[in-house]
Amino acid sequence: MTDVDPAVDPALRDAVRDLLDVVEERGDGVLPIVQAGDPVLRRPANPYTGQLGDDLGRLLETMRRTMRAAPGVGLAAPQVGIPLAIAVVEDAGAPVDAPRARTPLPYRVLVNPRYEGVPGPDGEPVRVAFFEGCLSVSGWQAVVARHRSVRLTGQDETGAALDEVLTGWPARIVQHETDHLAGELYLDHAQPRSLSSNENLARWWPDPDPRAAAETLGFALG
Ligand code: NI
Repeated sequence: MTDVDPAVDPALRDAVRDLLDVVEERGDGVLPIVQAGDPVLRRPANPYTGQLGDDLGRLLETMRRTMRAAPGVGLAAPQVGIPLAIAVVEDAGAPVDAPRARTPLPYRVLVNPRYEGVPGPDGEPVRVAFFEGCLSVSGWQAVVARHRSVRLTGQDETGAALDEVLTGWPARIVQHETDHLAGELYLDHAQPRSLSSNENLARWWPDPDPRAAAETLGFALG
């Protein structure tokens, strides 16, 4: 009965069906990831209001597979060329990674997400700066100062309301993915002098603290 669902956008749904059919025919079940410079990454995504009808689940499964294969910890629909405000996130975490507070973020779907920073006990904003990367800026990372904690609102894939506080690396992941849906890339908020190829980042790894890189490359952490 999808065809009579008034929320469905037949042209968009058909475009998604075509994309998923091509991916399935190719065999690996993984979507190509759009790289920086493609206009779809720079346009605010359309709020999701049911445009894909019953096909949403198939898209989400393919986005999840694509994120895992990349591998990545988040993927927004515009990164696979679909201009809808939908993202998937998942991170196994890294328990010994104390500075980044990289606690596990179980797989979940964000529909029409929004976030706001949660201030510290003194009422002042709390930002933390770390290197991050993006599947659409392949091969590079840069330091971005982001809210340590955010209040995340929106819906899940069933339409149920989402309202919760996330802290540490999970908070960074949802900020990064939500920014994608506003047509923003992490580079828009990064310290330009911190830009490093993945190969050069190995100089500082496995220490995720960016202070040595800040001193050597000459950028601020604020
Ligand atoms: Ni990204």
